[in-house]
Amino acid sequence: MAEIYPTLESEMLTKPHDESRQGEALSLPGDTDKTSAKKYYIETYGCQMNFNDSEVVAAILAEAGFTNTTDHTIADLILINTCSIRENAEQRVRLRLSQFNVLKRQKPELVVGVLGCMAERLKTKFLEEEHLVDIVVGPDAYRDISKLITSAEDGNRNVNVLLSREETYADINPVRLNSNGVSAFISITRGCDNMCSFCVVPFTRGRERSRPVESILNEARDLINRGYKEVTLLGQNVDSYKYTDEATGEHTNFAQLLAKTAELDTTLRVRFSTSHPKDMTDEVLYTIAKHPNICRYVHLPMQSGSSRILRLMNRTYDREWYLNRINAIKTIIPGCGISTDIMTGFCTETEEDHEQTLSIMDEVVYDYSYTFAYSERPGTLAERKYEDDIDEATKSRRLAEIVSKQRAISTISNKLDIGKTFEVLVEGESKKSKDFYCGRNTQNKMIVFPKHNLKKGDYVNIIVTGCTSATLLGDVV
Ligand code: 5AD
Ligand code: SF4
Repeated sequence: MAEIYPTLESEMLTKPHDESRQGEALSLPGDTDKTSAKKYYIETYGCQMNFNDSEVVAAILAEAGFTNTTDHTIADLILINTCSIRENAEQRVRLRLSQFNVLKRQKPELVVGVLGCMAERLKTKFLEEEHLVDIVVGPDAYRDISKLITSAEDGNRNVNVLLSREETYADINPVRLNSNGVSAFISITRGCDNMCSFCVVPFTRGRERSRPVESILNEARDLINRGYKEVTLLGQNVDSYKYTDEATGEHTNFAQLLAKTAELDTTLRVRFSTSHPKDMTDEVLYTIAKHPNICRYVHLPMQSGSSRILRLMNRTYDREWYLNRINAIKTIIPGCGISTDIMTGFCTETEEDHEQTLSIMDEVVYDYSYTFAYSERPGTLAERKYEDDIDEATKSRRLAEIVSKQRAISTISNKLDIGKTFEVLVEGESKKSKDFYCGRNTQNKMIVFPKHNLKKGDYVNIIVTGCTSATLLGDVV
């Protein structure tokens, strides 16, 4: 199946479920290979939540005396943090494991561990299917990892995939792996209580729980003190964040959490992901409008433009409701960047349904979108109730039509930015040239510009002078 994502691939921000960063080895600056301590290598697949979980695991391993390496051939411990969202995400992990197996055969004392969503989905089956895997650890069991490693060193094979109703790793300060020192992610909720019929996440990440407000604010304060300029609050559905302080009885919803984070430091940019159309309130939008340092950008997954398909997907909103939310964004936050997730080829999807997806794209005018072909996942509602009846060729063709429409819309949207000046946070060197930096405007569009004597973490006003469908080009005003 041809899947293309994200639609605009180049220098974009990674977001939850952005598979453009598949299998990245995460490293810690200055923490490699120098000591006799045991070395771990960690590779992460899937969403930004997973990348953030790897940083929690890194903190737990550091506490246990491990050091990080980006060279898996010298590691004592190889961990692979996995994703189950589509079948091809799992296939990629299997392929990678087969490569690690070669190493394990040469070096039997090497411990290989599988973490994350695939570990949770397959549980002990993983050990049956993958004979050279030593430990299988689900997303809520990372505190147990050192114990599991020690047991594996004694020759045992172990699984801990217990899901929790409470675990938020609130007290663990994630070790920022591969950080640019400018932007960091903070998890605010774990799990998901929505039952979208296509989705494996409620089964792999368990029930939704919100992390205590103070632990979130403390993590943000720590990042600010260390010079970070941008935080992204992460959750499967950030809008349903809710926390009640037991001591004071104070309730905090997502809008209030956003405001509290933004008010820590007005030079800190605050972003968040992902919003759910059924839960995104006007209160959140007014909070964004009120705080200049909360970025003018909303990622609002639409999935389908057809109300009939949305009903089968159990998204609990229809086309009209979705468009009402989009209008609220446009009215309350003029100039807000908007992106989405679109899934094509869901069970029973007709050409008419597909046309409705194309037409809603025209109505909303997304700055960019992440596009996927439906992939049936074992155990989901859709797998149990509906037939995966759209053939692969049709899925691919519809996906290509969606991608091509998005390219056209993005090009128009980017061209409209030519001549405009934006405040940009310098995030680092452009991937394409050492002479250029890249950074995003508040709308989350990536802009590439000459370095001059700027440095990472600076705010700079950039006038846009050109564009591709994926990136804006500009220069310092
Ligand atoms: N098949 C294809 N895409 C999926 N997504 C979630 N589950 C599936 C699936 N079974 C997409 C949705 C979601 C994004 C994170 O991944 O568009 O918003
Ligand atoms: Fe993230 Fe797990 Fe979902 Fe993959 S299946 S996108 S890792 S929550």
